[in-house]
Amino acid sequence: MSKSTDPIAVFDSGIGGISVLRHLLTLLPHENYIYLGDSANAPYGEKSTRQVRELTFARVEELLQMGAKAVVIACNTATSAAAADLRASHPDTVIIGIEPALKPAAACRPGATVLVMATPMTLREEKFRLLREKWSGGADIIDLPCYGLAEMIEQGITEGPQLINYLEDLFRGVPRERVSSVVLGCTHYPHIQKTVASFFGPDTQIFDGGEGTARETGRRLQEAGLLNPDAGPGRVEIINTAGPDMADLCYKLLGE
Ligand code: DGL
Repeated sequence: MSKSTDPIAVFDSGIGGISVLRHLLTLLPHENYIYLGDSANAPYGEKSTRQVRELTFARVEELLQMGAKAVVIACNTATSAAAADLRASHPDTVIIGIEPALKPAAACRPGATVLVMATPMTLREEKFRLLREKWSGGADIIDLPCYGLAEMIEQGITEGPQLINYLEDLFRGVPRERVSSVVLGCTHYPHIQKTVASFFGPDTQIFDGGEGTARETGRRLQEAGLLNPDAGPGRVEIINTAGPDMADLCYKLLGE
C-alpha cells in the first residue's frame, strides 16, 4: 500500500523531464521526488515503439520497487509508446503521462497555424493522431519531427552556435511568419525555449505540456488521497542510468 509521504517518481529518457519536475516543485512543493533519467538509453524518440515500451516498463518497475506512490512519465515519447499498457498492467498505481500541448496552442487564436516540434516517434504514434483529430479545430497543424535534437540537448548543448545552426536547418521551409504558436512536444525542448523563440516574432506563443501535467498530478493524487500532508519542502533525489555526471547536469538544470 502506498503512503502519502512516499515519493512521486518522475521518469524521462534523460534530462528532459527536469522541465516537468520544475512545474511539479512549484505546484506541489511538499512532495518528495525521485527523478530517473535513462540517459544511457537516450534518445528514445528514434527507437522502435517496442524498444521504448520495454525500456519504459523496466524503468517504471524499478521506480515502483523504490517505493514510489505515483509515476509521472515526463516524456512524450514514452507516454505514447507505453502509458496505456502501463496503466492496464498496474491498475492500482497512479500513472500520469504527458502529451504535446496542442489544445491550448490551437485555441490561442481563430485559424491558428501551429508548429508542433516533437520526436519522430511521438508524431507517428496513434496517440498523436487522436490528439490532432480531437483538438486541432480550425487550426493548421504543421508536424516537425526533430531528428537529433534531444540528443544534442542531452549533451548539454542548450544555447550557442551549434544549436542555432541546427535550428536554422530545421526551420528551413517552415512558414515562420505565419506561425501563431509553437508546441514544444518533447520535454527536452523547454531547455532551449529561449533560442527557439528567437526564430519567431513577438506574437508567436510557445506552449509545452509541463504545467498541465503537474496540475493533473495534483488532481490525481488528491483523488487517491495521496497528497503529502507535510508542511515543509520535499526532497528531490536524481538518479541517471548514465552515471553521476548526468545526474549533476540535471541538478544544475533544475536550479536554473
Ligand atoms: N524527452 C522525450 C520526450 O518528451 C524524448 C527525448 C528522446 O528522444 O529521448 O519526448
